[in-house]
Amino acid sequence: MTKSNKPHLRNPRSRQTLRPVHIVGTGSYVPERVLTNADIEKMVDTTDEWITTRTGIKERRIAAPEQCTSDMAAEAARRAMEQAGVDAKDIDLIICATMTPDMMCPSTACLVQQKIGAKGSAAFDMEAACSGFLYGLEIGQQFITSGTCNTVLVIGAEKLSTIVDWGDRNTCVLFGDGAGAVVLQSRGEEHGILTTCMGADGSLADLLLIPGGGARHPASKESISGKMHYIKMSGREVYKNAVMAMQTAAEEALRRCNLTVADIKCIIPHQANLRIIEAIANRLGAPMEKVYVNLNRYGNVSAASVAIALDEAAREGRFQRGDLILLLVFGGGLTWASCIIQW
Ligand code: UT7
Repeated sequence: MTKSNKPHLRNPRSRQTLRPVHIVGTGSYVPERVLTNADIEKMVDTTDEWITTRTGIKERRIAAPEQCTSDMAAEAARRAMEQAGVDAKDIDLIICATMTPDMMCPSTACLVQQKIGAKGSAAFDMEAACSGFLYGLEIGQQFITSGTCNTVLVIGAEKLSTIVDWGDRNTCVLFGDGAGAVVLQSRGEEHGILTTCMGADGSLADLLLIPGGGARHPASKESISGKMHYIKMSGREVYKNAVMAMQTAAEEALRRCNLTVADIKCIIPHQANLRIIEAIANRLGAPMEKVYVNLNRYGNVSAASVAIALDEAAREGRFQRGDLILLLVFGGGLTWASCIIQW
């Protein structure tokens, strides 16, 4: 993506005239084990100073060996359902955004369904890398807006520690594990999700990928010795595209809702790099006090990042009922999305 080829944004108009959809509960879960920058200094040739100044990350959470994506997803879902006062039997659909499913098949969403006891609900995974949670939110919303579903669980969950090459200092310092979830319903009142803008540019797929384990390079001795099952990223290129795409997506969402950044109470961007977040805030003219940041504690948790941050920001009282919030994501694909919610 170049300046002359700005991110292309499709679909939703402002939806105020349609059946409004609300986030009625949020939840998140991060594993107990903390891996600090000091710990990583002992593993690869890096320093706390480099990681902190280049990314803002101080530590990340790492799941236990027996703990899988579906376990973290189920725990985040239980917390969101508890807050929403929703019983498992009320869930019509479970959407799990992840690039680290427990298995290639069945979907992690089906495993979550079994764990939370939502027998009979529809369940599927969707993959839009780090943008997955907002893609999932938009899909879930469409099911409610259309009247197909009344209650949808949208989850972003990752066990990225299993796809990180712990010998590669370019990537291993960046990622962590965790899950976040929301319950969607229509409360029969105004507000809720006002607009979602999504986009992708598959011509830049090579900038961020896990080449092994799929149909192109199935698991083999060669794929394993070639470390093809690990995440590969052209960091600097991804960085530039991330800033431009999230800025454009944010501006488009504001335009559609006839809002300015001054109207927004809290911005929750994808938590990949503090410098990316500061650059976006600067370009949008938003003070950093408006921007929620937790990457210092968790690193980049891909599809779970914004889901966890949304839950934490809501529980910390960073916004109240009626306040406007702006969510921004960016990831492999390349993919991106923005969403404005009146809480
Ligand atoms: O979640 C999906 C979206 N992902 C992102 O948005 C991530 C976007 N990219 C980034 O956040 C940044 O590009 C990184 C944090 C990945 C890298 O920061 P950078 O400022 O772009 O550094 P760089 O990749 O250009 O590398 C600069 C130098 C290199 O050394 P030379 O070649 O200049 O001698 C690297 O080898 O830093 C070196 N380096 C490190 N040094 C110490 C790379 N990683 C490390 C490290 N410790 N961990």
